[in-house]
Amino acid sequence: MDRNLALELVRVTEAGALASALWVGKGDRKAADQAATDAMRRAFDSLPMNGTIVIGEGERDEAPMLYIGEKVGSGDGPDVSIAVDPLEGTNLCANGTPNAISVIGATINEQGKLMHAPDIYMDKLVVGPDAAGAVDITLPPKVNLKVLSKCLGKDVNELTIGILERERHQELIDEIRQCGARVMLVPDGDLSIAIAAIDESSGVDALMGIGGAPEGVISACAVRCMGGDMQARFHFRNEDERERTRKMLDGDPDRVFGVNDLAAGNVLFCATGVTDGPLMKGVKFTRDGATSESMVMRSRSGTIRRIQTHHRFPPES
Ligand code: FBP
Repeated sequence: MDRNLALELVRVTEAGALASALWVGKGDRKAADQAATDAMRRAFDSLPMNGTIVIGEGERDEAPMLYIGEKVGSGDGPDVSIAVDPLEGTNLCANGTPNAISVIGATINEQGKLMHAPDIYMDKLVVGPDAAGAVDITLPPKVNLKVLSKCLGKDVNELTIGILERERHQELIDEIRQCGARVMLVPDGDLSIAIAAIDESSGVDALMGIGGAPEGVISACAVRCMGGDMQARFHFRNEDERERTRKMLDGDPDRVFGVNDLAAGNVLFCATGVTDGPLMKGVKFTRDGATSESMVMRSRSGTIRRIQTHHRFPPES
């Protein structure tokens, strides 16, 4: 059943990508996100599942569509928890710069669970399969760089660490540079950096630093499917955020979460490129429609499919 569902879910990310692609480079990140959200919401309706949004556009009172707790799908089929980011990299889309994607992570409830993470910051460490189980987010970056270098069989000065370009990361960036490693600063979209960190051919060896917790849960879905490793801990800006998290999750909100704490069981992941990136090409409009590129993955089989689609738009009457 999940085999079919993964291939059905990609229609939803394709719908999000096609809709937001009309807003690429137009400087309006909100309109781009709204277009993707509307299109995905409609596309979900035809899917044979009883889906519940656990990570989405926000709480019900602030987001009319794809809000947390919203039911999606036809209602017939498996119970599925869904983490959706209609447009990951809203600024990237608005500015027409690389790596904007439309993305879904999901788990079949019978066997799994996605963390109901609050929309706050999360410190993340993502590495590929060769370094799985060897790094430790509680240790200083220089220690993890040495471990990574050993696991990957590269000198520290050959390692590349992907980090969001933010002032809050200056100390981290300085420490990595002092160790001699290379830093790839990315303006937005740490989910794409997480995927790159697991994909050996990307040239990125790890993601380090603080980004959104919702993006962290979706990244964990990709990590589960691709066989890498991820550790995370919440980065609270105040006591309110800590308290809110304590209420939402069982146990100590300051603990380190492993990849299975974020995305457990039988996990599905799909993403479609909105703008070009190393993972997927963005949407291109053609005379009779558009082309898109997507990734579809399942943790159970470890299969990674790349799908190129030529969408034909009906002629205007
Ligand atoms: P949006 O798509 O919501 O704009 O998020 C982009 C992003 O860069 C995420 O990839 C990342 O996790 C988060 O924003 C970082 O947040 P901030 O921009 O506040 O540092």
